[in-house]
Amino acid sequence: GPLALWGGRFASGPAAALADLSRSTQFDWRLADDDITGSVAHAHVLHAAGLLSDDEVAGMVDALERLRADVASGAFAPLPDDEDVHTALERGLIERAGADLGGKLRAGRSRNDQIATLVRMYLRRQSRVLSGLVLDVVDALVAQAEVAGDAPMPGRTHLQHAQPVLLAHHLLAHAWPLLRDVERWADWDARAARSPYGSGALAGSSLGLDPAAVAAELGFAGPVENSIDGTASRDVVAEFAFVAAMTAVDLSRLAEDVILWATKEFGFVRLHDAYSTGSSIMPQKKNPDVAELARGKAGRLIGDLTGLLTTLKGLPLAYNRDLQEDKEPVFDQVDQLTVLLPAFAGMVATLTFDTERMAALAPQGFSLATDIAEWLVREGVPFRVAHEVAGTCVRTCEERGIELWDLSDDDLAAISEHLTPEVRSVLSVEGSLASRDAVGGTAPVRVAEQLAAARDRSARL
Ligand code: ARG
Repeated sequence: GPLALWGGRFASGPAAALADLSRSTQFDWRLADDDITGSVAHAHVLHAAGLLSDDEVAGMVDALERLRADVASGAFAPLPDDEDVHTALERGLIERAGADLGGKLRAGRSRNDQIATLVRMYLRRQSRVLSGLVLDVVDALVAQAEVAGDAPMPGRTHLQHAQPVLLAHHLLAHAWPLLRDVERWADWDARAARSPYGSGALAGSSLGLDPAAVAAELGFAGPVENSIDGTASRDVVAEFAFVAAMTAVDLSRLAEDVILWATKEFGFVRLHDAYSTGSSIMPQKKNPDVAELARGKAGRLIGDLTGLLTTLKGLPLAYNRDLQEDKEPVFDQVDQLTVLLPAFAGMVATLTFDTERMAALAPQGFSLATDIAEWLVREGVPFRVAHEVAGTCVRTCEERGIELWDLSDDDLAAISEHLTPEVRSVLSVEGSLASRDAVGGTAPVRVAEQLAAARDRSARL
């Protein structure tokens, strides 16, 4: 039957059904290289504590490095009887170093502090890879914003025409949340950079091993302050999962814009053939599958986060086997983002905007009405009155089926004595855009500054 790490007090091995339930190598094997790196560091502190001789530590590290190479080549792989990545690698070590030497490595550590450390090592590395892929999407947005220049589009609230904005302004509005997601992972890393190694099962080690030395060797800023916390907490994993889910949600909102804009009715954007799909039955179709998969996967990544938090909520301290369930949700998030982000960046980079159509629609739906009201305010009219006057302009136009700029000087004067012909300076998209020139606004000069700032932020991350 299956071999286990706890033979001593057990008369029989685990039932096959338990082994099937318990086994985690099908997902935790991706931590094998980190596990070996941790074992090398652990061998070093065993040596420093006088528990391994000079020859023994050399033999141990040599065997671990041979094992690492065999894992990388696939020559060594978990067997069905190996419960988890740690069990399998202990078998591999003993096969290479012999039972006497190989059997010494387990002293002063537990799979509980090992797994808590490995997950942090893995997620810290992945956060850097994923951040780079998110920045590729940001850079694609910034490049599109640059191409868009001063091109206007209808800005919307409630999905209704609201006020004209620059297309570049709207594109950059999708870039900033993604930049914050990358910053979130960088902030998170400071909390993730504490090593649980040395916490043992929960109470710490009695063997004089130095957790700070292991932490330093594994690239952590230091060891955890509390061995119970080190083995029992997974808030670091959950926070990673939140940033992953938030990133997916931010991509999903951009995806929704792309899906809408690619419809016949909007006609704002054309997808590149390489980033759209056809239909098996309808020859004319060009579907925004990349964007739809982004939107769909956002739900999945939220589910991963939710599942993880739900696993954690009722757990007493310290380690409980439930914690084995922490890994698949975040691994799934990593895997999904790893395939999604490059496709998404490619889709964004290859969008072609119909800027003529967007410009033509920008002033539709009386989107310049606010400009009339704000022009009146600059003329000294109280906003309450100005709002009323601009509203009357809209109603008059609606009744006659004309646009605001079609109102004659007499029409304007009849609506309000304050409406002199000078109001026409803001009754154009260009005038409206140029007038919104406070920091963060849609005036072309401000958007140009914003674009430089976004490019700068991306380059620093
Ligand atoms: N495979 C476990 C996990 O992923 C680590 C092993 C701890 N098992 C135990 N019985 N204490 O959390």
